[in-house]
Amino acid sequence: MTTPAHPIPARERVIVALDVPDCATLATLLDRLDGLPVFYKVGLELFVAEGERAVEMVRARGGRVFLDLKLHDIPETVGRAVASAARVEAELLTVHTSGGYEMLCRAAEAAAGRVKILGVTVLTSLAEDDLRAEGIEQTIPEMVRARARIAARAGIAGLVCSSHEIEAARGAAPGLLIVVPGIRPASGAGAGRGDQKRVATAGQAIGNGADYLVVGRPVRDAADPAAAFAGLVKEVEAAI
Ligand code: C5P
Repeated sequence: MTTPAHPIPARERVIVALDVPDCATLATLLDRLDGLPVFYKVGLELFVAEGERAVEMVRARGGRVFLDLKLHDIPETVGRAVASAARVEAELLTVHTSGGYEMLCRAAEAAAGRVKILGVTVLTSLAEDDLRAEGIEQTIPEMVRARARIAARAGIAGLVCSSHEIEAARGAAPGLLIVVPGIRPASGAGAGRGDQKRVATAGQAIGNGADYLVVGRPVRDAADPAAAFAGLVKEVEAAI
């Protein structure tokens, strides 16, 4: 899987994270988004609570699904979990690259072309201080580079990293899709970082070469989620 030859339309490049507790809240958020987004992310909170039902609800409204389960376990377990997840009709599925080469190979094998595997490099909620606390001396870009290289060798489709490491990831794994979370407006409503440490604006991330952006709280918690989404698409269009 390589970066698409045709440019991805701006509206498709902003993936909305559906970080809500249940299908009732999901229905309300989808209504408020008014059919504008193309791609949605179903993550741990919603999938643990509602499972496939949540994915079906998004698909029933014409949405494309990114299933963000961030799998991280021994190769056998991850391979089997990917095989189960591939039965859910999602296009993208995450695993942690820190699980190592064999785990990534098993994930790619089990996906068997039914779902694209994305490898999370270093969570956007971590800063270099957090790595030092674990005794890791590498910088974050060095770590992303090393993990991206292993991911590319294992044959997965793409990588998740912050806007700050896109260059490192692309250099180590040319052709892989790059998906960037930790998106925040420069100021105003939605600019609060929350737990995210390596953030960037949508325009900066696209300018740095991201294929897709993942945006959660700045859309979910906006007074008008559809307007917040439309604003992000405008910013992406301007940066392409
Ligand atoms: O609310 P916010 O925009 O920070 O949400 C980001 C979303 O992207 C969350 O659903 C989170 O699980 C996800 N994510 C992330 N960092 C990664 C991978 C995924 O924040 N490295």
